Amino acid sequence: MSVKHLLNFKNWSGQELRDLLELALTIKKNQPQYRKSLEHMTLGMIFQKTSTRTRVSFEAAMTQLGGHAIYLDWRSTNLVLAELKDEIRYLSRNVDLIMARVLTFEQITEMADFSRVPVINGCDNMYHPTQALADFLTILEHKGRLEGIHLVYAGIHNNVANSLVEGGTKLGMKITTVTPEFNEASRDQELLDAATKTGLFTTTLDLKKAVAEADVVYTDTWVDMEFFLDPKYEEEKKRRIAKMSPYQLNQELLKDSQALIMHDMPIHPGYEIDRWAIEHANSVIFDQAENRMHAEKAVLVKVLGL
Ligand code: CP
Repeated sequence: MSVKHLLNFKNWSGQELRDLLELALTIKKNQPQYRKSLEHMTLGMIFQKTSTRTRVSFEAAMTQLGGHAIYLDWRSTNLVLAELKDEIRYLSRNVDLIMARVLTFEQITEMADFSRVPVINGCDNMYHPTQALADFLTILEHKGRLEGIHLVYAGIHNNVANSLVEGGTKLGMKITTVTPEFNEASRDQELLDAATKTGLFTTTLDLKKAVAEADVVYTDTWVDMEFFLDPKYEEEKKRRIAKMSPYQLNQELLKDSQALIMHDMPIHPGYEIDRWAIEHANSVIFDQAENRMHAEKAVLVKVLGL
């Protein structure tokens, strides 16, 4: 039997995503019933980049489901010395699941190709599927449905934008991106073409008009995490900030909006979003972050076929 991975949403149907979100809601509401679901199971968690939420939420999810998680910092393992495929072939003989945050989609694909157990993408240059699932769960909780909900993503088109567009259109959401800058390392033209064909995905530079029609407004960092503190990236960071400043989610833009305000964190207040928007009554940013764990519990159960 083939192993079920979560690398992006390409091999997941809209119905499978709906079922996964229903399971996440059920587990969240009935946590005691799931305390032994993953008893004696182990998740290997590989991190080639920094993380707060992805690490904490997956580790907490495993603990709360009765299993165990092992944190593997890429730099302190023999992933720095050996070939990736051999390290994964070994790892998948000692753990039941692998979750990895890596630099490139090619790496996570190679992991899936050589693993005996399910591989979950904890964010790469192209996709962040577990973030998008937590976002959809949060919208479902606050709005009671996903179908027909209009999400406006303002910022740089990146890995998070891809997963929102891919997953959102499969779930019947209307997704509009307002992205004057496109992170070319994240480009997946096939994904954009498929989303466009649904009639649910559009892109514009008219942020005010898009926000006026939005049920949800969403933003993300203008500078990828691996570059944010890198002095070599300083000039590019300044260029991006100058270009993107008119697209900030702030009081002036949102003062008449009833839309939910979302951000996947970590937040850079004063850049992509102002403090007013972060603290607004319609902000669900911390619900989103909490829901990483609840959505991931459903992912862990589903990929194991339990
Ligand atoms: N949103 C997100 O992936 O958070 P971390 O980078 O802290 O894991």
